[in-house]
Amino acid sequence: MKLQQDKQLPGVYWLNNKLATKNRVRGQRVYGESKKRVGKDEYRMWDAKRSKLGAAIHNGARNLGLKDTSKVLYLGAASGTTVSHMSDMLTRGRIYAVEFAPRVMIQLINVAHKRDNLYPLLFDAHLPDEYAHFIEDVDVIFQDVAQRDQVHILIKNARVFLKKGGVALLALKARSVDVSKDPKDVFMQAEKDLKTYFDITFKVRLEPHEKDHMFFVLKKK
Ligand SMILES: C[S@@+](CC[C@H](N)C(=O)[O-])C[C@H]1O[C@@H](n2cnc3c(N)ncnc32)[C@H](O)[C@@H]1O
Repeated sequence: MKLQQDKQLPGVYWLNNKLATKNRVRGQRVYGESKKRVGKDEYRMWDAKRSKLGAAIHNGARNLGLKDTSKVLYLGAASGTTVSHMSDMLTRGRIYAVEFAPRVMIQLINVAHKRDNLYPLLFDAHLPDEYAHFIEDVDVIFQDVAQRDQVHILIKNARVFLKKGGVALLALKARSVDVSKDPKDVFMQAEKDLKTYFDITFKVRLEPHEKDHMFFVLKKK
């Protein structure tokens, strides 16, 4: 089996040219992903069709601001698919995972139970003041809430939690913003709005893994 560490993304591996992370919790599967043993370590294969961060990495996203020690605020954690891979990557970091749907939060809590760098928070991402006292300032905000006002939610949280020069990663779903508009127009408007607060350092469409999504890498001005 050929194992290579990604040169630019700490904690990201290519196992026989397929994306993977080293399992922080040996034996744990989070979403039915396959696991592989290499020497004494176990790796979880990272399915780009189930994770927008995985899709973005496949499509060339690098310089994501993620280090092994990063503090991350993750908005829209759902049941923990992507969050779990991030938890594998940030071996000495911390992830504050906000999710407002109680049903998936139960699954997220189960995932976090054995992951001591993952802190689930049941809150609405529109209301950062309500969870401000649980979270420190962060190096990175990741946002994947699939809501009409995704950009607004991101900026609101960045104002409260993102360090100066910090990075925001946004998986923008055109159909959630406005189903009647051409995705290209949605992305153009989003860029305009994002530029009021961030520099856009990279952007990439997520096809063929996800339809009508744009992934933005942003730096707080
Ligand atoms: C597309 S899913 C996220 C998938 C997840 N990021 C992953 O890759 O594993 C969007 C999630 O955002 C959550 N969400 C939507 N609006 C939210 C809000 N205002 N506050 C918190 N969570 C929200 C939804 O409940 C849903 O679980």
